Amino acid sequence: MKELPKWVSLTLYNLKGFIVIDVKNLKYRLQFVKALILSGGKGTRLRPLTYTGAKQLVPVANKPILWYGIEALVKAGITDIGIIISPETGIEIQNKTGDGSIFGASITYILQDSPDGLAHAVKIAQPFLGDSPFVMYLGDNLIADELSQYLEEFKTKNLDALILLRKVSNPSAFGVAKINAEGEVLELVEKPQNPPSNLALVGIYFFSPLIHHAIAKLKPSARGELEITDAIQCLLVEQKLVCARQLKNWWLDTGKKDDLLEANRIILDTNLTTENLSNIEDNSQIIGRVKIGQNTKIINSTVRGPVIIGDNCYLENCFIGPYSSIANNVKLSEADLEHSVILESAEVIGIQQRIVDSVIGQRAKIYLALKRPKAVSFMIGDDSQIELT
Ligand code: DAU
Repeated sequence: MKELPKWVSLTLYNLKGFIVIDVKNLKYRLQFVKALILSGGKGTRLRPLTYTGAKQLVPVANKPILWYGIEALVKAGITDIGIIISPETGIEIQNKTGDGSIFGASITYILQDSPDGLAHAVKIAQPFLGDSPFVMYLGDNLIADELSQYLEEFKTKNLDALILLRKVSNPSAFGVAKINAEGEVLELVEKPQNPPSNLALVGIYFFSPLIHHAIAKLKPSARGELEITDAIQCLLVEQKLVCARQLKNWWLDTGKKDDLLEANRIILDTNLTTENLSNIEDNSQIIGRVKIGQNTKIINSTVRGPVIIGDNCYLENCFIGPYSSIANNVKLSEADLEHSVILESAEVIGIQQRIVDSVIGQRAKIYLALKRPKAVSFMIGDDSQIELT
C-alpha cells in the first residue's frame, strides 16, 4: 500500500449537494444521494381496494408495489430513504414496511396532511432532504431498467434534473415532454389536453437541491396541486441543466386495475422462480413455474404457472391458470381462474365459470350456494365492479 504524504492541502466545497474533497487538485466526490418515495395521495383510481388500504401496498406477485421501488433504490446504492405518507394510510405503510432494515436501508416517514401535489411532498420533505441530491420515486410506479445507469449519468454530468420518458398511447393522462431532434427537453406540461408529444414523464426523477428553489416559486395548478412538472419546467426556463432519457424497458404506473394486472403478468413472467414450501398431495398437478408458500394445502387441483400462491392457503378442486397471484390465507374451492390477483384472506367457493382478468380484494367472499342458482344475492361495496358474462 502507498503511504500517504504527512501533509496534504485539502479543500472542501459543496457542488450541487455533493461534497467535493480537493486533495492537491485531485478531486474526490462524496456522494450522499438520498431518495424520496411518494406514498401518500388518495388512490381514487384503484377504488374500492384503496378505501381500506394504501394503493402502494396493493401486491404485485404477492409483494407490495412500494417494496419494488425500495429494492430498486437499495440496489442502486441509495439507502437513506424518506417516504411520504398520508394520515389515512400512513400507519399501515409504516407497520408493513418498518424502519427499512429488512431492505438494508434506513427509512424516515414524512407525514403529508393532504395530497397537495408531488412538489408539495418535496417541499415538506426539505428538512429530511437538506441540500442532498435525491431520487424522487412515485410509490405506484414500476420500471424494469436498473436505476444505477441513470444515477451515474446524473452524478457525473452534475445535472440539476434528470427525467425519464416513455412513449405512451394516452399522453393526456401524464406529464408530457416536448423534445428536439437531439433529445433535449424543450418544454414540459402536466396532463395536457393537446399533448405536444407522446412522451410521458415516468414517475422517477433525479434532482439537485436546486429543485427546492424552483418549488418555492410555484403556484397551485388548475387542479389545486403544486406540480413537480411545473417545477422542472421552471428549471428549464432558467436554463439549468435538465436532461431526459427514454426508458429502454417497460414502465407501469399501477394506478388502475388493468395496469395492476399487467404489472402482475410482467413480474410473474420475468421474476418468478419455482419454489414449493408446502406438501402438495399427489392428486394435484403443478405445471410450469409455480411458487407456493408455507402451510398451503392443494387438493385435487391443477396449477399452471407462472403462478404464485402465498402461505396458509386452501385450494380444493380448482384450476389456477397462468398469471395468477394468490395472497396468504386465501380459500378457493371449486374455482377456476386465470390472469387474476386474489388478495389476502379472500374466499372463492363454487364458481363454475372461469374467473379472468379479476382483482378480488382482501377478505372478499364470492360463493355459490346452489349449482344452478335462479337468483344471485350481493353485498357489494362502493365503486365495486361485477361483470357477469
Ligand atoms: O406516473 C407518472 C405520472 O405521475 C407523471 O407522468 C405525472 O407527470 C405526475 O404528475 C404523476 O401523475 P399522477 O396523476 O399519476 O400522480 P398521482 O396523483 O397518482 O400520484 C403519484 C404518487 O404520488 C402516488 O403514489 C401518490 C403519491 N402522492 C400524490 C400526491 C398528489 C403523494 O404522496 N402526495 C401527493 O400530494
